[in-house]
Amino acid sequence: MDLKKTIKELSQNEKKVLLALDKLKGKASPEEILKTGDFTQEVEVMNAASWLRSKNLVRIEDHIKTIFSLGKEGKQFLQKGFPERRALRIISEKGVAKLSDLSKDLSKNEIPIAVGWLKRKNWANIKKDKDTILEITAEGKKALKIQTDEEKILKQLNETPNIELEKTKIKLLLTRKDVLKEKEVVTSTLSLTNDGKKILDTGLEIEEEISQLTSEIIKSGIWKNKAIREYDVNAFAPNLYGGKAHPMIDLIKEIKDIFLQMGFEETQGNYVEPSFWNMDALFIPQDHPARDLHDTLYLKVPTKVIVKEKKLLEVVARVHEDGGITSSDGWGYKFSKGEVEKALLRTHTTVNTIRYLYNNPKPPCKVFSIGRVFRKENIDSTHLPEFYQIEGIVHEKDANFKQLIGILKEFYKRMGFEKVRVRPGYFPYTEPSMEVEVFWNGQWMELGGSGIFRPEVTEPVGVKNPVLAWGLGLERLAMLKFGLKDIRDLYISDLGWLRRQPKI
Ligand code: PHE
Repeated sequence: MDLKKTIKELSQNEKKVLLALDKLKGKASPEEILKTGDFTQEVEVMNAASWLRSKNLVRIEDHIKTIFSLGKEGKQFLQKGFPERRALRIISEKGVAKLSDLSKDLSKNEIPIAVGWLKRKNWANIKKDKDTILEITAEGKKALKIQTDEEKILKQLNETPNIELEKTKIKLLLTRKDVLKEKEVVTSTLSLTNDGKKILDTGLEIEEEISQLTSEIIKSGIWKNKAIREYDVNAFAPNLYGGKAHPMIDLIKEIKDIFLQMGFEETQGNYVEPSFWNMDALFIPQDHPARDLHDTLYLKVPTKVIVKEKKLLEVVARVHEDGGITSSDGWGYKFSKGEVEKALLRTHTTVNTIRYLYNNPKPPCKVFSIGRVFRKENIDSTHLPEFYQIEGIVHEKDANFKQLIGILKEFYKRMGFEKVRVRPGYFPYTEPSMEVEVFWNGQWMELGGSGIFRPEVTEPVGVKNPVLAWGLGLERLAMLKFGLKDIRDLYISDLGWLRRQPKI
């Protein structure tokens, strides 16, 4: 222990408790310290004491004690006397008394009680003749002149209730109902530790000191001539949890900032889209398994979303059938226009991108969007039916595949993932296509798809230059970032977990 430092960091109240304990020979109850140390409230003592305990200068021992006060019957006995005492008086007046004589001062219920105790205390002999006869004993005569321990206790409790009593003295009283009331209370004893004693040995002084600086103290210059209490920055303090944004909100913000810093602009889109924009415009064939009800959530209300872009619709239909305006052969099936307006919840944010390209076909452009998408997934530790995608494109004259890999690697690097690799992948709308993976905790994790849009996608919307595109999973990234094994943990609002998430 650094004595000097510890002393400097003691508050006034801590010093007062130490000094009071010293006066009280090193051990005392909080009440004694309250009086000796000139405190006004016991909480002040206990507060200071718990600080002193955390600094290992004081020990606090708690013990349970039983305290007594007068019960209902006890109060009556105090006033009128115990039934056996009142009976004894009657017997002594008469010398020998009949049972019926007792009713002079005792109620019907009290008589058998009195007789029982007279016998038990050996104050009277009881003889059964025609009547029951009570005759005082030598012990009874003695009792007339003295106060019994029990009577003394009732008096004492009347004057000072809530005190501890010797068990042996109250054994009999406790067998009688409602005479005593007992209660258990916890009391503390404070005592000095060796370190505490050492501090007192060096001599503690209570001088006026500033423990809380105010602008007044600074402005007036008072601080120059006064001691200022030093802070112990290592002292225990309870955690305070203020309100803050959900970690996912912060993560999204972080990602947005990264793309903005990399020169991207943000776009947004709608949750509800017609199949046309979510699928057809992206050259996803109409019999593609992902269109199936099992994967895509179609809406009952509205069942349809009008596709206003009639010309584009014609062009896209042809591209699907035989390549149309492009040099492709298309998919070679009969395109059904009846399908295109089916309303669905967007299954990927690539729909935002294709709409953006249609409205902004001129390069160069770099845009991204982060948004929620919906798929009919069963919920488990790695799947949710609603999740976020981080979507983006680079559209410029000589955009190429290497550049795409570079951008994605740069993005993940800025997110804190150094090791990124790509593998060949497949999407109906990109060629070449690839999957992006990052290395985390000893394994490769697949985080999203990307590629260069096929001419079947770009040419119908009037785009002539290459478009690099990607759609990355946000939740998986979040799980890696937050160290979670179950995707559901991101959204179950576990307050403990939310509180523990650092802000930065
Ligand atoms: N839309 C794809 C998905 O949902 C990701 C992707 C976007 C792939 C853009 C290639 C280009 O998985």
